[in-house]
Amino acid sequence: MKHLLNILDLSTKEIYELIKVSNHIARNPKRYQNICAHKQLATLFFEPSTRTRLSFESAMLSLGGQVLGFSNANASSTAKGESVRDTIKVVSGYVDIIAMRHPKEGAPYVGVETTQVPLINAGDGGHFHPTQTLADLATIYNEAGRLDNLVIGVCGDLKYGRTVHSLIGAMSRYKNISFVLISPDELKIPEFVKKDILDKNHIPYKEVTSLEDSISKLDILYMTRIQKERFLDIKQFDRLKDSYVLDVKKMKNAKKSMKVLHPLPRVNEIAVEVDKDPRAVYFKQTVYGKYMRMALILKLLKEKKKPSNIKIKDTHISTKRCSNPHCISLVEQELEAKVYKDENKIVRCAYCDAEID
Ligand code: NCD
Repeated sequence: MKHLLNILDLSTKEIYELIKVSNHIARNPKRYQNICAHKQLATLFFEPSTRTRLSFESAMLSLGGQVLGFSNANASSTAKGESVRDTIKVVSGYVDIIAMRHPKEGAPYVGVETTQVPLINAGDGGHFHPTQTLADLATIYNEAGRLDNLVIGVCGDLKYGRTVHSLIGAMSRYKNISFVLISPDELKIPEFVKKDILDKNHIPYKEVTSLEDSISKLDILYMTRIQKERFLDIKQFDRLKDSYVLDVKKMKNAKKSMKVLHPLPRVNEIAVEVDKDPRAVYFKQTVYGKYMRMALILKLLKEKKKPSNIKIKDTHISTKRCSNPHCISLVEQELEAKVYKDENKIVRCAYCDAEID
């Protein structure tokens, strides 16, 4: 059975096919409106969401299927102390496919151990968000006309922004890609993304702090919000929250062909005046996201009998627990401390990929 936990669970060929199918659905919605009749999707959102949950639900309803689930962990047995492992086991006995979002990093890797149906990661803490990346890739392909030969600026909270981690992973597989990573020093991209993705694939990148100085070189500008809910120290958030604001003045220095993406929700990192600029494609991005989720649901339901695509890391059990305070393995008590060695022989948590020190 195939699942989607990390964008790298899909090959570039599969992603291209998803984009083609999603564009076909967008042009011929009637042909798809009953294709999932009598199929059920569960949306298990242990963490708040507007776009992603509604986009999944709208996707399934537009395929003629049904949806059930919860949008808040307090409305589930988690409030009674139930584990992710058990919740997923039970729900997967009721439905045909599950989309789950969880505040703890690595939670879907626990879910995949017990699920009986395809599982989609709709965001796990500050770790990954592969279906947002599907929306991003469809947007870049359709609006910029290509997925290769791009200078991509990623700006904002690169530390906790899970959409950024998944986007960098996905884009690193296309030809002639380089990144300008724009963030305050405190919110730089995590080491696992640098080492396991950028360095490993020999992708050129620069880490800078100024958006003004970099904007003129970019083909894509991916703005992100500072992720308030992930800060352990709220004073640090207050200091960093207004680090970047994209406005009309800064857009004047950008290429005519540059596209501005944002996974949304926007807080104040893009001035509303920019919405009128034809280079701003972040609202179109939400529509591409729905069609990509429709294409993904169809694919996973169709490929239920195929072998799993989840790369089982070569793991062993460690005596040390993960030191990432956001890791699922610290919450689910019955989980053993599974670790693996990366390319550079660094020992990492098999759930959240954090370095075990
Ligand atoms: C993103 C997320 O949840 O990570 N939103 C989304 O899914 N569209 C980005 C964010 O919350 O900043």
